[in-house]
Amino acid sequence: MIKVSVGDIKLGEDERKLINEIVDSNRLSEGPLTREFERLWAEFIGTKFCVAVNSGTSALIAGLYALLYDDRFPKVKKGSKVITSPVTYIATSSAIALAGMEPVFVDIDPMTFTLKVDQVEALLESGNPDEYSMILPVHLMGYVNDMDEINRISKKYDLVVFEDSAQAHGSLYKGKKAGTMSLLSDYSFYIAHNIQVGEMGAVVTSDKKIRDNIKKIKANGRYCACPVCTRSKGICPYQNDDFDPRFTHEFLGFNFKINEFQAAIGIPQVKRIKDIIASRQQNVEYLNQQLDGLKHVLQLPLFSKDVSYLAYPLVIKDKLLERQPIMRELESKGLETRPLFGCIPAHQPAFKYLKQQYEGKLPNADYVGSSGFYIGCHQYLKKEDLDYIVVLLKTVFK
Ligand SMILES: Cc1ncc(COP(=O)(O)O)c(C=O)c1O
Repeated sequence: MIKVSVGDIKLGEDERKLINEIVDSNRLSEGPLTREFERLWAEFIGTKFCVAVNSGTSALIAGLYALLYDDRFPKVKKGSKVITSPVTYIATSSAIALAGMEPVFVDIDPMTFTLKVDQVEALLESGNPDEYSMILPVHLMGYVNDMDEINRISKKYDLVVFEDSAQAHGSLYKGKKAGTMSLLSDYSFYIAHNIQVGEMGAVVTSDKKIRDNIKKIKANGRYCACPVCTRSKGICPYQNDDFDPRFTHEFLGFNFKINEFQAAIGIPQVKRIKDIIASRQQNVEYLNQQLDGLKHVLQLPLFSKDVSYLAYPLVIKDKLLERQPIMRELESKGLETRPLFGCIPAHQPAFKYLKQQYEGKLPNADYVGSSGFYIGCHQYLKKEDLDYIVVLLKTVFK
């Protein structure tokens, strides 16, 4: 039986060479390869800075704390409200809540899973905008939100914008990369993402203070934020002070540091990212052509050369069929599937305290979250894998 995974990774010669260099150097903690990964990712995305952290979740938390610790953003404070998407991997909402803020959900467009910007504006108009500090749009499955509108609304109400680009490695909006249209943005390099290294994340920004704060927060709030520590060379800016900045802590922070192996696995992939994105796009285009006849029962993904696809999302139309038995059947025939996350207040036990408040208010999120699932479209799939997907879906949905 053919097995089609949601994501796959193959470590080639380049990755192995870098891994061996680490083994020979005896340095496992963050070092030159981590700095090189950060340089390459910032260059690819088009921001001044990138800070690597140990997961996309950590990237969100570190980013939110960097804003909390920055007095340029007085509205960003514990208890403030953050407008975000109800259909996303739970980390987006958890990070907001764990940083002491309140996630506030508006409905999504069912085709692109992006925030309905008219609802964002209506929410701010109808409530007290001073209670809100931020809009945190999620570019789910690679589809970028309407960032012009989000930025217009955020300007009108003096809100910070923080893009969650965990699933949009290199997606474009009007020629601009996801992650460059706001103050800061997070990425995840978990399994199935265009760049995947097992576990890792990053924050990008062009704001030096945010970059410095994230460097500090990821290292238990330590005082220093130099790109490379110069203390052993005797040229640390604090060398002659009577404290050691590495062990003096300006903020409460976390340990979100990575190790060199993660960077080593990521670097060669970033160098190949254009090919990775292109081959995923070709796979999506091919599957869409072949599955056109299923459109009466399945919502196929919108195809665009601007989208860097995380996966191939499908939504069962009009609740014609139950999602779970279908996913079970596909899995039993070798096609790996994942649910399209669910609508957070309606379906996630961790946020059940919000269920009643949102009852009936997020119809699209409820529909996509309960009837959507995704399968792989990654660069390692061969034509025979794609054809197997087509035959299987046609059989199951006949
Ligand atoms: C939209 C979104 N945000 C945040 C995360 C969290 O990333 P991680 O799993 O690396 O912690 C993910 C993970 O896939 C995600 O999809």
